[in-house]
Amino acid sequence: MKILNIVGARPNFMKIAPIMEHMKASPKITPVLLHTGQHYDQNMNDVFFDQLGIPHPDIELEVGSGGQAWQVSETIRKFDPVLEEESPDAILVVGDVNATVACALAASYRKIPVIHVEAGLRSFDWNMPEEINRVVTDRLSDLLFITEPSGRENLLKEGTPPEKIQFVGNVMVDTLLKHRENAAQTSRILDQLQLQPGGYAVMTLHRPSNVDAKGVFAGILKAVHQISKHLKIVFTVHPRTRSRIEEFGLEESVKSLILLEPQPYLDMVRLMSQAKMVLTDSGGIQEETTVLGVPCLTIRENTERPVTLDEGTNTLVGASAIIRVAEHIIKTGGKQGRCPELWDGCTAERIVRFLEQWQPR
Ligand code: UD1
Repeated sequence: MKILNIVGARPNFMKIAPIMEHMKASPKITPVLLHTGQHYDQNMNDVFFDQLGIPHPDIELEVGSGGQAWQVSETIRKFDPVLEEESPDAILVVGDVNATVACALAASYRKIPVIHVEAGLRSFDWNMPEEINRVVTDRLSDLLFITEPSGRENLLKEGTPPEKIQFVGNVMVDTLLKHRENAAQTSRILDQLQLQPGGYAVMTLHRPSNVDAKGVFAGILKAVHQISKHLKIVFTVHPRTRSRIEEFGLEESVKSLILLEPQPYLDMVRLMSQAKMVLTDSGGIQEETTVLGVPCLTIRENTERPVTLDEGTNTLVGASAIIRVAEHIIKTGGKQGRCPELWDGCTAERIVRFLEQWQPR
């Protein structure tokens, strides 16, 4: 069975790495890797391929940056001839980025089966581009691999036939567990920044809802500045966020923080694993902190990953609650949590075993 695996943006890379590894070892599957080019900078892209041992993509669409509709349509336009030429038995998409939905659409028009890894997550927040991408991709998919029980509930409510849904766990956790020790051995990031374990927090912010409106972004930075009086804060700055800091003239508001470029995978894992807490609006980091046992403050009104709240270390905080919750963690150590079911490092293997006996329509 020839499967065309799709990546486009940074959070896809840690998900595809273990899937490619297990597919390559399978006698029954011929994997092909396609990169849409949604992310392309050295520190958003190449460094992840190197550190995670992902093979060089067989096909690159080089779509690049643009508005959401433009990016999705450009990806479809460039992907369609590839589908014709490659004629795969199925395509596999991961997560919820623009590359995910665009390739699922193009394959569906050609009646090529779609496999979605990390299906069924719902924030119920239609303002998030990712929520649109998730709902549309799931509706188009023939096989839906879910990471947590909420995925099944959501999909069944939307009318997905139960036989299409498989609970396999979390592929991103495969990658985290595989590289955690390596990060501890090889990363020099704590020494370079003169940080002590437990003596700092890590922050990432890039959601349009947090950084695209000046008032909202400035409010978050004001709260974070308060926390930085008690605890050093390392802020890894996404390209979108850096542009907004400059555009809104917020340079003064980030002066008390330690600003870094987007970090390579191993340094980021090392930074998060030794932090007192992590402040974020990322989807994946909510899950990674749960596995690392580090308290996470998610600066959002909702999450599509409720298992990280119920079982893990995650707490949702609107901008007004950031200081209170962070101070509570500084005093008490915060939520400890436990690792959710099947987040055990064997998810990609389960996916590939399932695919080996799967009959695409
Ligand atoms: C995308 C995903 C988001 C994910 C995030 C991780 C969608 C809708 N959003 O958001 O779910 O959490 O990736 O980073 O797919 N840019 C660069 N270099 C790059 C890539 C982007 O400078 O290599 C800049 C460009 O100015 C671009 C902007 O970042 O316009 C935003 O990139 P884009 O891929 O559109 O969205 P993200 O905010 O990264």
